[in-house]
Amino acid sequence: MSTTSVPAPETGLVEHVNGIVGRNGHAKPNTATLPSGNGQMSDTVKKDDFDIEGIPEIQIPPRVLMGAGPSASYPEALRAMGANTLGHLDPQFVEIMNNVGMMLRRVFRTSNAITGAVPGTGTAGMEASLCNLIEPGDQVLVCVAGYFSKRMRQMCERMGADVTTLEKEWGTVFTPQEIDAALSKMDKPKLVAIVHAETSTGVLLPLPEIVDVIHRHGALVVVDAVTSLGGCPLLVDEWGVDVCFAATQKCIGSPPGLAPITFNERAMELVRHRKTPVQSYYMDISLVETYWRDTSAGGRAYHHTAPSNALFGLHEALRMLLLEGLENRWKRHQLHSNALMAGLAQLGLEPFAPEGYRLWQLNAVKVPEGIEDAQVRTLLLHRYNIEISGGLGPLKGKIWRIGTMGFSAYHSNVRLLLSALEDILEDLGHPVVKGACTDAAEEIYAAAEAKPGQDATGRNRGQGETIGAETVAEGVAHNELGGQAESDDAPEAGP
Ligand SMILES: Cc1ncc(COP(=O)(O)O)c(C=O)c1O
Repeated sequence: MSTTSVPAPETGLVEHVNGIVGRNGHAKPNTATLPSGNGQMSDTVKKDDFDIEGIPEIQIPPRVLMGAGPSASYPEALRAMGANTLGHLDPQFVEIMNNVGMMLRRVFRTSNAITGAVPGTGTAGMEASLCNLIEPGDQVLVCVAGYFSKRMRQMCERMGADVTTLEKEWGTVFTPQEIDAALSKMDKPKLVAIVHAETSTGVLLPLPEIVDVIHRHGALVVVDAVTSLGGCPLLVDEWGVDVCFAATQKCIGSPPGLAPITFNERAMELVRHRKTPVQSYYMDISLVETYWRDTSAGGRAYHHTAPSNALFGLHEALRMLLLEGLENRWKRHQLHSNALMAGLAQLGLEPFAPEGYRLWQLNAVKVPEGIEDAQVRTLLLHRYNIEISGGLGPLKGKIWRIGTMGFSAYHSNVRLLLSALEDILEDLGHPVVKGACTDAAEEIYAAAEAKPGQDATGRNRGQGETIGAETVAEGVAHNELGGQAESDDAPEAGP
């Protein structure tokens, strides 16, 4: 197989950068100089004279999403999102919102009254968690060993906290003793911010012991569970997590756009006794509360227009999760991760995360010597329609991050990816034993109780299931016959 000419995915869209695409696919140069705010001609922007007839209806290419997120969305979630929109105080919608709250409580394993989903992606959940608790000058400890913990630190600094950083090499694990030592050096630590499942490194933190240490110092803990919620054990109440936020697009299986979040009473006490108002009106959880819950005599109060269709999607994804069973969902992530990692080992790919702290839903492996990261990811995308992620920051070019999350965590996806990687690596001169990787994965599946293609409800799920007009499997086959590549750039590393 040639590695130089890469067929383009059939997107149905002609990509363009500095112009508008006509029906014939030729870009029209389309720039003009418009006045900037102060009336001076300075910025060059696109002129608004495009031909709307020349912009086709979007056609989304089928993709097998096995990167760091988003993962594939459940068809039930996508169908629900296509329903007609409801007003945010419509009694039917209120019931849907109540159900979302109830189901989220079960998934977070909490009885916290303040549990819901704020509009925005995981970063919005991070912002909402931190801005409600932090006041200027507060002592905050942030444990940084990856990209997302670094983001938490940046947010705390922007909010005016007095931030202490406990920094370790990316890919390593914080021990309770290290956190204990860092907190001992602080005057009055109010808060510790920590990432449970670091998507940038594939590492899972031993959260229960860490939370105990933090509480012994009288501080609260804010946990980033963007990649862990629904993917592996996370017991908010049992472990004593004070504030926890997540995202919909990873192990939950609905499209990006909402951030599940939960605050316990201890955290809410702190919020209610703030000296200063929460800087963000939108994310002020005391205001959001009046909207999520019927707390006032006058009933539910408007705070913002609910993203109703996004909530329909989340409702269905949570329903699918709980029908499968939360623990069964965790086990499914473990099974497919184990099968994938067994196969990858046969291809000579070593795990990046330390043994015992490896995430099931995000499998980080080292890029082998002599192989170019971006070239492999480009070929996976263009030849097989499969997306995986590269490394971020210091790990750029050094690791691959392969998601087995939510609706993407199925047997057919694991097999497809292993076979595709085997082909590509062989083409690039990497030694492979044909068929060994899929055989190794099948051995794991054979030893498991669960039928690999099914979820715990016994339904066949995953690749090949109807999504819109065509199945993913058809889309992949279709794509292999695709035309000339627009670009052979690897996709961005992604989250
Ligand atoms: C651990 C973690 N935290 C936070 C985020 C930010 O979430 P989002 O990209 O949905 O805003 C991500 C994104 O992947 C993540 O993996």
